[in-house]
Amino acid sequence: MKGKLIVIEGLDGSGKATQTALLCDYIKESGRSYRKLSFPNYESPSSALVKMYLGGELSSKPDGVNPYAAAAFYAVDRCADFLKYWKDEYEGGGLFVSDRYATSNAVYQTSKLPEAQWGDYLRWLEDFEYDKLGVPKPDVVIYLDMDVSVSQQLLSKRYGGDESKKDIHELDVGFLRSCRRTALCAAEALGWHVIRCDDGRQPRSVSDISKDIIEAAKPYL
Ligand SMILES: Nc1ncnc2c1ncn2[C@@H]1O[C@H](COP(=O)(O)OP(=O)(O)OP(=O)(O)O)[C@@H](O)[C@H]1O
Ligand SMILES: [Mg+2]
Repeated sequence: MKGKLIVIEGLDGSGKATQTALLCDYIKESGRSYRKLSFPNYESPSSALVKMYLGGELSSKPDGVNPYAAAAFYAVDRCADFLKYWKDEYEGGGLFVSDRYATSNAVYQTSKLPEAQWGDYLRWLEDFEYDKLGVPKPDVVIYLDMDVSVSQQLLSKRYGGDESKKDIHELDVGFLRSCRRTALCAAEALGWHVIRCDDGRQPRSVSDISKDIIEAAKPYL
């Protein structure tokens, strides 16, 4: 028996935590049991390499760490988390909602490569993580698409204007813009459900976005 895994994906500050919590509230109200996941698992020592990468210890710019290496850092954290915390429940048929997942590697790492290599890279990611490491493949990926200038405003508000709280992805707006472009290509190639979360200047309301997410998730609940 295999569980169900719903992933909420998106760039920094696109509303993943906010929307994951609302989807979980909806599931709870319907009386179903579920478990919320969030990656990377910063509470666990398995995220050490991710912290070094995002903290700029390996390179001050995201491009300084090759996309295969960076993806491997995130993948081993997930693999350890799966084995230690949720393998049995998943294999017993449990329902999981995850804020970020293996799909974040497609979002953040693909743009480091020339476009001609994107297809090969996405195939490698899926083969490495789902087939070789044996981490579950999501049943549905809901991608929150937000213009980077809007998500940067939300992040600045959240950090109260303190730029030092931003990691090397969040600090590099040019990098995030290219990630948004590749993420939309990945979404198309990998069959993700894309939800536009802003009008180019302002975010849509939290409750409107939540309604769209619930509709997208319903067939999997
Ligand atoms: N639709 C929205 N309208 C206005 N503010 C929002 C909206 N969605 C989220 N926010 C606020 O924007 C900030 C970022 O949201 P949230 O933390 O949910 O994003 P995230 O995608 O989880 O970010 P990160 O990638 O950094 O983990 C939070 O302060 C949140 O309250
Ligand atoms: Mg978050």
